[in-house]
Amino acid sequence: MSTTPHQGTSGSAPTRRVTVRDIAARKVPGRATDEPVVCITAYTTPMARFMDKHVDLLLVGDSLGMVVYGMDTTLGVTLDMMIAHGKAVVRGASHACVIVDMPFGSYQASPADAFNACARVMAETGCAGIKLEGGREMAKTVRFLTERGIPVMGHIGLTPQSVNQLGGYRARGRTNEEADKLLDDATAIAGAGAFCVVVEGTVDPVARSITDAIEVPTIGIGASPACDGQIIVADDILGLFGTFTPKFVKRYAELGEEVSNAVAKYAADVRARRFPGPEHIFGAKPKR
Ligand code: KIV
Repeated sequence: MSTTPHQGTSGSAPTRRVTVRDIAARKVPGRATDEPVVCITAYTTPMARFMDKHVDLLLVGDSLGMVVYGMDTTLGVTLDMMIAHGKAVVRGASHACVIVDMPFGSYQASPADAFNACARVMAETGCAGIKLEGGREMAKTVRFLTERGIPVMGHIGLTPQSVNQLGGYRARGRTNEEADKLLDDATAIAGAGAFCVVVEGTVDPVARSITDAIEVPTIGIGASPACDGQIIVADDILGLFGTFTPKFVKRYAELGEEVSNAVAKYAADVRARRFPGPEHIFGAKPKR
């Protein structure tokens, strides 16, 4: 049984906020995690409120650059954008552990730069920790941060901030060389103190061996059902992001279509003078 406070199948109210330690403790090295860690992205207060009680972790992902701001990649996202959205999500969450993604350019140059940027994010948003992308090359930074009180969620595999270096969004780990590198990256980040590691766009057998090898939970996205948890971009599963749907996305709703249909009805009502009706206006003269 999981010890993480959560809504549970009984529907009882969550007791306290999930911490990074709760998430890390879900991993029992050597066997499959009893109850997978449920993670999803959130960017705004209302969406955080809708999702909070159902999940263990809300990630304010830099995917917001593409999903909310219509950018082609995540590379143009700034620290100020992440802080504004981080604050909004923390305001809307009382149960889930809130983690904020560090944007491209804010943490790669040196551990000290990373600390300054992460400390700003933690202090200004009130989040529980940060996420950063990268493998062995970021291990020194992960250690620097975790030893100074900043919980780190790692992120390896298909790391979108390195899309130019990786040469596109193709799945990782298809060659022995890539598989060995991914395993080495995961081991380095977990060994440096990350409380969990996102494994993105990585072929199933490699994601499984990483899950078997490291002592903190792996959180898969386009990886493997064997991972200790899963994360997904909320707008992808809700039908709110129409630009493209990756293979690993399952659609649970078509909210984009719902919005379009509802606004079409509103527009028709306004044009036909059916809206606003007498019940929607102030000081309407009673009909004789
Ligand atoms: O930015 C993001 O949303 C992410 C998740 C998809 C892991 O990094």
